[in-house]
Amino acid sequence: MTGKVKIAVLVSGGGTNLQALLDAEKSGVIRSGKIALVISNKPGAYALQRAQAAGVKTAVVNKKECLSQAEFEARIVSLIEENGVELIILAGFMCILSENFTRRYEKRILNVHPSLIPSFCGEGMYGLRVHEAALAKGVKVTGATVHFVNEIPDGGEILLQKAVDVLPGDTPETLQRRVMEQAEWLLLPRAAELVSAKILEE
Ligand code: GAR
Repeated sequence: MTGKVKIAVLVSGGGTNLQALLDAEKSGVIRSGKIALVISNKPGAYALQRAQAAGVKTAVVNKKECLSQAEFEARIVSLIEENGVELIILAGFMCILSENFTRRYEKRILNVHPSLIPSFCGEGMYGLRVHEAALAKGVKVTGATVHFVNEIPDGGEILLQKAVDVLPGDTPETLQRRVMEQAEWLLLPRAAELVSAKILEE
């Protein structure tokens, strides 16, 4: 192998999925890619500390300081281009990206969503809200999905999915934790390796 695919991870919050990716690179689960950059839309995101602790370069593109969606995305694009990034991973990134952005990186953006798409997904369905909706509906099985990102929120091609049981007495928080532990933290690194290896073959 000559080189590794440079990966940028986009985050907004706690960054447990970012941590799973960093750990997977260290343990060799991800061997075709390298996390080269972490971008947060929130200056205080704990995910930034996780990246720094792992020695990964970080950047903040504060959406509130941008005059438009176009400016927000242009600043992300600049960082991606400057750093030679070939694969973008949305790991708890709570902003919608426009068609202008997603078209530019077709089959080069991955997202992890905490349900079995097409259930409990789309605009406004993120984080704990997804698990609240699953519990309100009374489903007995939920899970996580890793998919390519296109212009439709949570609508791109599905790459990996894993089911997780809903248990009696679950709260949105306990269900979120189980979905992360049993599905998200496993699927996202696996998908990162799959796509990185494919890019290297091209
Ligand atoms: C994760 O459960 C992720 O799947 C979800 O937000 C959480 C972020 O946690 N993402 C979405 O809902 C996107 N639609 P993390 O910051 O600890 O990785």
